[in-house]
Amino acid sequence: MSLEQEIEKRKTFGIISHPDAGKTTLTEKLLLFGGAIQTAGAVKNNKIKKSAASDFMDIERQRGISVATSVMAFHYKDKLINLLDTPGHRDFAEDTYRTLTAVDSVILVIDCVKGVEAQTERLMEVCRMRDTPVIVYINKMDLEGRDAFDLLDELEEKLSINVRPMSWPIGIGRTFQGVYKIYDKSLNLFEGDKTKIAETKVSIDGLEDKKLIEQLGEEAAEELRTEVELVEGVYDPLSVEEYRAGKVAPVFFGSAVNNFGIQEMLDKFIEIAPSPRPRHTNTREVFPTEPKFTGFIFKIHANIDPRHRDRIAFLRVCSGTFERNTFYRHIRLEKKFKFPNPAAFLAQSKSVIDLAYPGDVIGLYDTGNFKIGDTLTEGEKMMFQGIPSFSPEMFKEVINKDPMKSKQLEKGVRQLTDEGVAQLFVMPIGSRKIIGTVGELQFEVIKYRLENEYGAKCDFQAKNYFKACWITSDNAEKKAEFIRIKNQEILKDKDNNDVYLAPSEFILNMERQNYPEIEFHFTSEFKTQST
Ligand code: G4P
Repeated sequence: MSLEQEIEKRKTFGIISHPDAGKTTLTEKLLLFGGAIQTAGAVKNNKIKKSAASDFMDIERQRGISVATSVMAFHYKDKLINLLDTPGHRDFAEDTYRTLTAVDSVILVIDCVKGVEAQTERLMEVCRMRDTPVIVYINKMDLEGRDAFDLLDELEEKLSINVRPMSWPIGIGRTFQGVYKIYDKSLNLFEGDKTKIAETKVSIDGLEDKKLIEQLGEEAAEELRTEVELVEGVYDPLSVEEYRAGKVAPVFFGSAVNNFGIQEMLDKFIEIAPSPRPRHTNTREVFPTEPKFTGFIFKIHANIDPRHRDRIAFLRVCSGTFERNTFYRHIRLEKKFKFPNPAAFLAQSKSVIDLAYPGDVIGLYDTGNFKIGDTLTEGEKMMFQGIPSFSPEMFKEVINKDPMKSKQLEKGVRQLTDEGVAQLFVMPIGSRKIIGTVGELQFEVIKYRLENEYGAKCDFQAKNYFKACWITSDNAEKKAEFIRIKNQEILKDKDNNDVYLAPSEFILNMERQNYPEIEFHFTSEFKTQST
């Protein structure tokens, strides 16, 4: 098969949702449809428990297991689908943001009872930064959820994206009878049978067909006719181009736990979702069809066994063909590496591969050479972009509890933050270290791992910062002045960028007024060339 055909065949995507909306269930059902797993429950085992009581060991153990399911490749029809797993736990949101840099599209799951929830909004912001195409799956239609029109309005309003319903629900909750597929004018009937995989399709000749009443009853048929008329009046037909540009999101209604509405979405997904797309670097755009291999690291997974401190770095292939045992250039380190055992992930098993193509994700065994954002090429100097770091929400200072082990602490903190467990900010004077995370859990994980893997002991002292702001300015003098005046709150991130830790929103707004020449950003690109 030619490189072009390999690329065309691949669809690399991720599923995002607010916890509990049904991401794990949908993942599992997609794998069932793809024939990659035979029984339900296989993916569930891997899920990080959401109860506040789940302790970090449990989570680490589960994260360990999840190496195998970080990428789930499966075949569906003539396509090869790479599904990148994103942790559902809110405290690992940063992991999810980074995984989104390695996909070409996403499926967003919404709970029809709850509508758009907080984490959905944040995840969509990340998708919008890169114009990632989005398909929406409104789940749990077997429950008494919200009105479909209201849900669509809320999606448009809260997620700032135009929507296009592809199917329309017939009833909801107890009265849910299935969906009418707007694009091919057929019915997909809901039978509420969890054991059944195939969908029950009924072809009808438009909404006036007598079969409609036979199937749904007079009242539901009439309601459907009125609603679809309204839908067709309000929403234009889907433009695939606009979807691929991240401007409109096709919407499906279903019930994942009942295998409903999944196959029709999957069929549409393979038809419209983009194959691997060109990607930006700091020097030029890289096209997947270029013969020379390029790729970047978007995730690093540590081995939780302290006796083996190896890690797996996940690399997304962006162009050309990756070959096993071939030397590639690690751009940041300016060194050549070859990989004798690159791993591919088919469904839930891991195997060594010889070749990988654009869109594929492979696991590279690493002894500490990789950082998130690192680029590998056949020699060309470039760094992939669009792998930003986001302002953490919690900040704590690292306090060394064992002065004899400061070297180990230093090394541990560096390595763990390189892995992306948390972000590290260092004060230029005195080297005080502040760690930023999205949730409390990471602090526990760091403390535990520092002790167990590096033999270092630390405590954390909470710091009341509002946000980390990466500061830039065209006016070097003003920036230098700001840094001088605010020296207690200006730290370096791990790529040596200047970051202002704003004590409060009020003070940040004040500084914005005092220093109109300075820009305060809540996100940053990882500029891995500077170390
Ligand atoms: P998440 O990964 O997004 O956090 O969600 P997950 O799939 O775990 O689903 C959350 C809960 O919602 C699960 O119930 C799941 O069974 C249920 N669920 C998923 N899809 C549907 C659906 O279409 N209809 C209904 N009624 N429920 C659905 P749970 O009680 O938390 O777990 P479990 O005991 O069922 O495994």
